[in-house]
Amino acid sequence: MKQLENLPYAYNALEPYIDEQTMRLHHDKHHQTYFDKFLAAIENYPELKNENVKEILRHLNKIPSEIKTAVVNHGGGYYNHNFFWTILKKDVKFEGEISKEILKKWGSFDKFKEEFKNNALGVFGSGWTWLVLDKNELKIVKTANQDSVISLNMIPLLTIDVWEHAYYLKYQNKRMDYVEAFFNVINWKKVNEYYLEVRKNDKNK
Ligand SMILES: [Fe+2]
Repeated sequence: MKQLENLPYAYNALEPYIDEQTMRLHHDKHHQTYFDKFLAAIENYPELKNENVKEILRHLNKIPSEIKTAVVNHGGGYYNHNFFWTILKKDVKFEGEISKEILKKWGSFDKFKEEFKNNALGVFGSGWTWLVLDKNELKIVKTANQDSVISLNMIPLLTIDVWEHAYYLKYQNKRMDYVEAFFNVINWKKVNEYYLEVRKNDKNK
């Protein structure tokens, strides 16, 4: 039986910016539930059971209509959180190729941060803010609920979960403080790796 992957670091690894209790609930309850419901949705579809969730989200047009909503919501929730955990780490310097590209596009780190923060604050209700490559262009975009940029043909490089479950215990209604704190736990090394991977694949085309 397939199982949800463990968090790739300790629950308290992001303290004090993201607290241990939030990480426990977020991974062990919320993420686990998306995973379980996603598996339940595709249970009777062998061709989907053998497919990677990323590929499933990339080709939503192939999903039978009776399970499509469940796949978007729970498959999206499963994949988005998998990705989110990987780009979180404390005390990682903003450097590498991706930092140069961000500075080229936004002019300064502060400008980039401002647009990213405003985007995250502008998500109405629940959703995600992303830094993506969209046809080779860096962009900051938002998605509602558990919609994933993967389904929009974009390549995710960085994301923040702005569902209340991601911050409410520590920050209550102060999403701004959570988003500000998030900037202390961005794993720029990983973001850079994602960026270089795309560039490498471009060269091999
Ligand atoms: Fe979440």
